[in-house]
Amino acid sequence: MRVAVVGATGAVGQIMLRTLERRGFAADAIVPFASERSAGRELEGYGTIQPLRDDTVAGFDLALFSAGGGTSRDWAERFVAGGAVVVDNSSAWRMDPDVPLVVSEVNPEAMDAARKGIVANPNCTTMVVMLPAKALHDRFGMTAMVATSYQAAGGAGQKGIDELAAQVPVLAADIDALVNDGAAAARKVESSVHANTLAFNVIPRLGTIGPNGYTDEEMKLQDESRKILGIPVLAVSPTCVRVPVMVGHAIEVRATYEREVDLDEALAALRAFPNLVVEEAPTPLEAAGRDETFVGRVRRDLGDPHSLNFFVVGDNLLKGAALNTVQLAELAVERGLVGRR
Ligand code: A2P
Repeated sequence: MRVAVVGATGAVGQIMLRTLERRGFAADAIVPFASERSAGRELEGYGTIQPLRDDTVAGFDLALFSAGGGTSRDWAERFVAGGAVVVDNSSAWRMDPDVPLVVSEVNPEAMDAARKGIVANPNCTTMVVMLPAKALHDRFGMTAMVATSYQAAGGAGQKGIDELAAQVPVLAADIDALVNDGAAAARKVESSVHANTLAFNVIPRLGTIGPNGYTDEEMKLQDESRKILGIPVLAVSPTCVRVPVMVGHAIEVRATYEREVDLDEALAALRAFPNLVVEEAPTPLEAAGRDETFVGRVRRDLGDPHSLNFFVVGDNLLKGAALNTVQLAELAVERGLVGRR
């Protein structure tokens, strides 16, 4: 079993390597790939970092991608042509009808329809919402979802973490400005990754705003939720917000159902769902570094007996990205997809 990890030097790629190791993935060889900038360098424990070239991408059984949409669009099919099943963490293939979009606990059977030899990993925010959404949908039949996210800097990769880390000490050195002249405090630092100064702030714009006023990140929450849950008419009202947290996405969800919601039944369904933990008030800081997804503040809506409010938290680099990618690689092996090509 030869496994390629494309984007091996990135925030997610690094965790993919560790996750393969930690879960004892049965690989004979794991080969790291990154950009031309890193190719030729040694990656400790994995040998020389490879460049993406026609002669380097053949002969793999599996290729795990987390190197941006452009790289996936250009190279995923070439790995497939060379014999691999591709699990892709970018947005490049997610909405392709011939590419399954899979959360390992939610719709594993969709893997079998990987007609292009590519399986897509959902967006990190959509991912963590899907676990409680599926648990409750199976009981009550979801028709609508209002989802407001609190997304960590690490959702933008290592550079997102680095930008926030650099801003914090500069702004923390002048508490007076933070309290009395926030605009002046915000101007003390550069922001190129996040849409505004993120330290000590909250930014209600994440991604590019489209013609309908929603960002591409928000549209992913609608489109991917519909595909994963198999509810093409699901009404989704998404708002994506960046918050000064390093790792751990949180989402407040108001979900509406065909059936009236019974709180005890809802809690029982959430508790019974694999890798989902019910807590009173989960936080991103406490979820960082954890495999599980956490759900709390589960409340019946005050006005509508068919609606439920809950707050879900997950590590965006683990379950939101690297862990689910490795779980999909495991499923691809279990379900006989690998080696078939
Ligand atoms: P490199 O480190 O050589 O730039 P992150 O999401 O943390 O920014 O990481 C992105 C990952 O994708 C890195 O491993 C990066 O490699 C890799 N990458 C970026 N652009 C390319 C490209 N054009 N070809 C291959 N790998 C790429």
